Amino acid sequence: MKKIAVFTSGGDAPGMNACIRAVVRTAIFHNIEIYGISYGYDGMINGNIKRMHSYSVSNIIQRGGTILKSARSEDFRTPEGRKKAFAKLTEQGIEGIVAIGGDGTFTGAKTFFEEFGMPIIGCPGTIDNDIYGTDYTIGFDTAVNTALEAIDKIRDTAAAHDRIFFVEVMGRDSGYIAVECGIGGGAEFVMVPETKTDLNKVVKSLKNLRKSKSSSIIVVAEGDEEGGGEEIMHKVEEKLKDADKDFKVTTLGHIQRGGNPTARDRVLASRCGMAAVEGLLKGEQNCMAGVVNGEVVYTPFADCIGKSKALNEDHLRLIEILSI
Ligand code: F6P
Repeated sequence: MKKIAVFTSGGDAPGMNACIRAVVRTAIFHNIEIYGISYGYDGMINGNIKRMHSYSVSNIIQRGGTILKSARSEDFRTPEGRKKAFAKLTEQGIEGIVAIGGDGTFTGAKTFFEEFGMPIIGCPGTIDNDIYGTDYTIGFDTAVNTALEAIDKIRDTAAAHDRIFFVEVMGRDSGYIAVECGIGGGAEFVMVPETKTDLNKVVKSLKNLRKSKSSSIIVVAEGDEEGGGEEIMHKVEEKLKDADKDFKVTTLGHIQRGGNPTARDRVLASRCGMAAVEGLLKGEQNCMAGVVNGEVVYTPFADCIGKSKALNEDHLRLIEILSI
């Protein structure tokens, strides 16, 4: 293998730049030409492919976002789009690809591999931490710390006014961010898409908590089946309307996707980036390079997207016990 390419796709995540840097420099270390594809799969289709050098990735390890930009491509979902993408890659002589992204990115990569046999290895880049085959995804730690900083501040004002705050964090299909913030932020409750929330139980407990606590924080993952933070707050408010309580909601939103990556995310990103390139050289393909129990592991894309990474039940119990 003499020429490989790297791209980022789907929702950006802090640490993607550190991963690009690792891919570029590992490739150069092994005397391989490295190309950057801008705007994910769309860039592949449009031939937005440029040679990268060691200096192309100088001074980016600490930056959020992605220097290669990101996009969600509709065209790549079509056979015509993928055919065009393959033609653009072969025009440049690209023989292998590193795809940095989440489950949507890996679904596209798997199809592309199956149709054209192009060797691809993924790196798990998403704040949601919902990818099977790695204990943590690149960006998760930073997103949790960003959300925690906000929750700490909300706690100050919640306590000052004896208020009940609903804080909505990201996680369309996954409660990982919510659970981690719930534990780290000392939340009274956490609502996640993976488990059904009994609002009556929430209301009952809030009434009981109120005797010993003047304020409460409830962390809601945006994908909870009862609704987002605002909707859930109104439902609870309605059930507690006689209780003379003051309710507020804060939606943290895309702030969780930005910012300088934490040390953990930089290290994870660097390890996955290096493992992806060295995996390609060893003949690995159609899989993701992740870190499980401290070791680099290659997991087939089919498992990364097909198997769900269950939330740790003990973590949910921990929140319940520590909120009494
Ligand atoms: O990156 C994952 C994620 O943050 C989800 O939690 C969220 O629902 C989604 O991306 C939103 O992404 P966008 O606003 O880019 O469509």
